Amino acid sequence: MKVRKAVIPAAGLGTRFLPATKALAKEMLPIVDKPTIQFIVEEAKASGIEDILIVEGKQKRSIEDHFDSAPELEQNLEAKGKASLLKMVHDTTDIGVNLFYVRQPYPNGLGDAVRLAKSFIAGEPFVVMLGDDLMQDKIPLTQQLITEYEQTHASILAVKKVPHADVSAYGVIDPESEVHKGLYNVRKFVEKPSVDEAPSDLAIIGRYLLTPEIFDILDHQKPGKGNEIQLTDAIDELNKTQRVFAHEFTGKRYDVGNKFGFVQTTIEYGLTHPEVQDEVRPYLLKLAAQLKAEDEKKAAKGK
Ligand code: G1P
Repeated sequence: MKVRKAVIPAAGLGTRFLPATKALAKEMLPIVDKPTIQFIVEEAKASGIEDILIVEGKQKRSIEDHFDSAPELEQNLEAKGKASLLKMVHDTTDIGVNLFYVRQPYPNGLGDAVRLAKSFIAGEPFVVMLGDDLMQDKIPLTQQLITEYEQTHASILAVKKVPHADVSAYGVIDPESEVHKGLYNVRKFVEKPSVDEAPSDLAIIGRYLLTPEIFDILDHQKPGKGNEIQLTDAIDELNKTQRVFAHEFTGKRYDVGNKFGFVQTTIEYGLTHPEVQDEVRPYLLKLAAQLKAEDEKKAAKGK
């Protein structure tokens, strides 16, 4: 069955970005000039996804407004002859996929957010795309998972090696064997293990392709780490009755879910953004030289 549907959980409280996220969805924070959720929707579209369900939390009307038309703004841009801006605004509405929305009443975890998609998914294989991870590669990561699925017809999720000290921030896999380069059979999926107990450094990054049987498990899933219903726990359970593979992503991943990652991503996108790249690069080189001189001065004083 063709993979046509995606779920984007966007119901987190966004506490890492307060106060910006007090009244604004975290997923609306822009990288230079584009909200992070738009990058995700564009990856879905580029991977052949047709229908997307966005699971929202409180204060998330801004996401729906972003993908809606904006008649007053459009008239204004038209009257002023700002054709390229008008096109940019139109492109967010005519984004080429159908968007649906549902609210998660309580922040009970990622597994609970995905569970709300059950009737939308209606028995089809589907992808889950997390807004904290922006991916860059020649072939979109979601497309890579779909291509593997077309061979195996099994659930598959994306993993990437992370520094060992960071494993406790992720779901981690215990790889059993390599089916072919970058595709693993998995013994166990563990949500946020301690650094000492982590079975590997292969962390689950925010792209999953799941068979609909996951909903039978999520319906009965008990809270796990952080007293939340964990998608990783449900996937570990699914792996006991049908194979769940892990696909190692070799492209670039930007973690926009924490402050430092967000700053890094903004700088790196700035370096390739057509409108500002000519200024960003010389600025960074000058700043780096200045910082280096400051550090050298400090070190010389300390001697
Ligand atoms: C979630 C998942 C975790 C995964 C991570 C990827 O955690 O629960 O398994 O590794 O996303 O970003 P969160 O970052 O929402 O705490």
